[in-house]
Amino acid sequence: AEEVAEEPAAEEASDDLIVVGYAQVGAESDWRTANTESFKTTFTEENGYQLIFDDAQQKQENQIKAIRSFIQQEVDYIVVAPVVETGWETVLEEAKEAGIPVILSDRMMDVSDDSLYECWVGGNFEKEGADAAAWLKTYLEGQGRGDEEINIVTLQGTIGASAQVGRTDGFASGMQDNWVMLDKQTGEFTQSKGQEVMESFLKQYPDIDVVVCENDNMAFGAIDAIKAAGKTCGPEGDITIISFDAVAAAFDAMIAGDLNAAFECNPLHGPRVAEIIQKLEAGESVEKIQYVDEAYFDTSMDVAAIKETRAY
Ligand code: AHR
Repeated sequence: AEEVAEEPAAEEASDDLIVVGYAQVGAESDWRTANTESFKTTFTEENGYQLIFDDAQQKQENQIKAIRSFIQQEVDYIVVAPVVETGWETVLEEAKEAGIPVILSDRMMDVSDDSLYECWVGGNFEKEGADAAAWLKTYLEGQGRGDEEINIVTLQGTIGASAQVGRTDGFASGMQDNWVMLDKQTGEFTQSKGQEVMESFLKQYPDIDVVVCENDNMAFGAIDAIKAAGKTCGPEGDITIISFDAVAAAFDAMIAGDLNAAFECNPLHGPRVAEIIQKLEAGESVEKIQYVDEAYFDTSMDVAAIKETRAY
């Protein structure tokens, strides 16, 4: 269901406020909460904006409805974090016809005509996946397991989301000949579904060496499932577990010794999108594709100290 914004309708906004409609994916993860917070604290009246926020509950049809409602309300800009990559042409054409610029943030869209959106800003999901595979190779070599057969399972994000597609493809590009991908299944980027899928993997496959979780929240679910099955994970455990995002709770899991490594995905896109809007307002051009720099963290580092320096 569409979430109705508390703010006044766009047509009632004071003339000097820039009205921005944000079609958000949902509230499926800690990352998403930090991303929503970043928009809500950036697009304030004090900063010259009126934000109309919509939570699509991870459903593309809800996002399309939200975008249509933004068009009807004649907002100045539409920002979309698309649930999945495909199926956007029609609604983007409607926005173009209405003369409303569309900015993509976080996840990508796969559209044949890239003039349908102004620009995109987000993380390089494919690189995150490739970095995770490279890290695993070095880690296993360090343990003297570089030539062993390694059984891997993957908890994937929402199928068709660019965060899922990129991380899956990036990790696949770094697969070694002696690694076996036993199974991949979606955990929808949520802790509860991640736990459920991991429970079934553990029943099906007795010899899992590594779990790749396409976000932190699914890793938290996987950790619970592994412990409930009487196994251990993390650097001292039976199963190596790695994830993406690097939210505060992932640092806690590394500090507790449950999670081996987290590959960062930065959610703080509010100020980045505001900068893009300010440039467009000033008639300046913006770079079409804007990748954000990202790092990774593992338990060989002082993760407790690093956690204190982080904003999410
Ligand atoms: O698109 C970014 C991904 O979406 C994050 O990794 C995940 O936590 C979120 O749900």
